[in-house]
Amino acid sequence: MAPVAQRPRGTQDILPAEQLYWQEMTGAAEAIAIARGYQRIDTPIFEATALFVRSAGETSDVVTKEMYTFPDRGGRSMTLRPEGTAPVVRAYFDAGLDRERQPVRLYYLGPFFRYDRPQAGRYRQFHQFGVEAIGDAAPGLDVEVIALGWRWFASLRVSGVSLQVNSIGDATCRPRYREALRDYFRPYLDALSENDRSRFERNPLRLLDSKDPDAVALQASAPRTLDFLCDACRRAFAEVEGGLQQGGIPYVVNARLVRGLDYYTRTAFEFWHESLSGAQNSLGGGGRYDGLAADLGYRDTPGVGFALGLERTATILKSREIGPSLYAIAVDDSAFPLMQQLAEELRTRGVAVIADVSTARLDAKLGRASKMHARLALLVGLQEDPVDHVTLRDLRLKKQESIHRDRVLPRVLEMLAAPPVGAA
Ligand code: HAM
Repeated sequence: MAPVAQRPRGTQDILPAEQLYWQEMTGAAEAIAIARGYQRIDTPIFEATALFVRSAGETSDVVTKEMYTFPDRGGRSMTLRPEGTAPVVRAYFDAGLDRERQPVRLYYLGPFFRYDRPQAGRYRQFHQFGVEAIGDAAPGLDVEVIALGWRWFASLRVSGVSLQVNSIGDATCRPRYREALRDYFRPYLDALSENDRSRFERNPLRLLDSKDPDAVALQASAPRTLDFLCDACRRAFAEVEGGLQQGGIPYVVNARLVRGLDYYTRTAFEFWHESLSGAQNSLGGGGRYDGLAADLGYRDTPGVGFALGLERTATILKSREIGPSLYAIAVDDSAFPLMQQLAEELRTRGVAVIADVSTARLDAKLGRASKMHARLALLVGLQEDPVDHVTLRDLRLKKQESIHRDRVLPRVLEMLAAPPVGAA
């Protein structure tokens, strides 16, 4: 009989072999956030639909096509949270955090939901590490938030990240920029897709974000946000740049960076990765949202934050080629007890050991060891080894040696202490 159900499209099981990466990501997130005074917040998995329609914007992709919206049994429209900022702002006011000392620094880790076309790096259920610093408009807080994200990637030893920064202005200067964009795109309206024509009418900034080839061709020469900033926005952006420089955080000013959600003002930023391409090149992003609280019907309150995607980051961690320290292999059944005994001894000394308990052939087991990016392989029961000897193979240096079983522990510790060639 066929199984009655399959895993829903666009979702993933996080299997035991992956948990190591997830623990690493969430552990680093908690440590870095807490060390900077950020406190954890968990909001419900579903919220009233209006919260997201109002905050993300009626023309955003999230609202037009990606929300998991359903009526509950009482006939109220509910939506599985597609992002965390609007719920956190709601909770901040609900709980009276606006009356505490400002800014209030919050972080979260958890699942989010967007009904997107599933593809590499795009899921219907995905996870984010996010932070929100609410109640202070100082550009120094933008810098603190950006630095926190940068630090997270650094502590995970993820290289190849580029920080893209822009300012998209505020209620004072954005209307003028919006008109300049319309003037620029107007002569080409007939060539644009229907979707882009509606963006032109409703939110022309989104034309800079379009993936449609006709719009993409026009984007390069479009007016730049930075040329339209009012004095206050210009000063704020200079302060953000100054803070990043002072903090030694490398960044690229990208005057065409716009974000997919409507609530941003002034600073907008994304963390891109060299290995990701196209629409999914962003490991995370965020910015300032000084108008969001008022849009949601609360007292006007500034805020800044980001969210980093854990699935996309996990993909990079996996290619980082850091696996278990040692992969233990018994060549045949009779070698099995000694292999297990040595593996256990190594573990008690803190060596990360995976013991292959399968009956696969030796070359298949060695294949698994290198696929898992193990540093060393321990082979027990090879015919060519003298009595009471085992073989230790360095999988990166591609060298091996036969040693007495009593020498395994000190020799493994010695080999692991030497830096692997090519290690970052
Ligand atoms: P966002 O840019 O929509 O921002 O999402 C942030 C990150 O979440 C993306 O860069 C990506 O890594 C990940 N992500 C988004 N959608 C998917 C998906 N379908 N599959 C896999 N990963 C995905 C926000 O969500 C804002 N709330 C960020 C923010 C916080 N701004 C201010 N504070």
